[in-house]
Amino acid sequence: MRFYALLCLLALAACPSDKPTPTGASCPDPNNPQFTWDNFGSDFFCHYCTNCHDSGLALNKRNGAPLFHDLDSLVGVMEVMVHTDEQAASGPKAHNTFMPGAGTGGRCPSMLGGSLDEDCPMPTEQERINLGVFLACEKARPDDYQGSNGSYTDHCANYHGPH
Ligand code: HEC
Repeated sequence: MRFYALLCLLALAACPSDKPTPTGASCPDPNNPQFTWDNFGSDFFCHYCTNCHDSGLALNKRNGAPLFHDLDSLVGVMEVMVHTDEQAASGPKAHNTFMPGAGTGGRCPSMLGGSLDEDCPMPTEQERINLGVFLACEKARPDDYQGSNGSYTDHCANYHGPH
């Protein structure tokens, strides 16, 4: 492990991290972000996260996902923005792949609040990189998170249910 970490350092490459690490992702242009809640965020979180991390789920329906980690709205995501970056995003300083799957042996519910009945659908590396940039841009954005772009939505309903 130590040798591997050393190799990573020597190569100056971002290596899969064995503990949650900030990705160091940055936003090229906060005033004109490539990834928005509408064109990226809501799809990403609905697809990979909200069957456990939905604001409508009681604690006993979350398969261990903590309360107040609700990823079905932009506001909810930004409340846990740092942890989300450290758990699921990729960037120059880390490739974080803890979520989905950490704590549940890689198993996920195929339906909102269901039992762990499938292997978690996994984001691609490109999607994880995009997530890092998305979060960095949302953090840097000049406007409030509330409003029409990013409010609670039933959009995730499209993703719940058998794939
Ligand atoms: C199987 C249901 C499930 C899914 C799907 C899931 N999570 Fe989790 N999440 C958990 C569990 C369980 C924990 C607690 C893990 C632990 O403490 O070891 C957790 C914890 C977290 C935390 C808090 C970590 C901390 O230490 O504060 C964040 C942030 C998070 N998840 C983000 C995500 C993101 C982003 C996705 C989608 C890419 C996702 N999760 C998908 C179950 C899930």
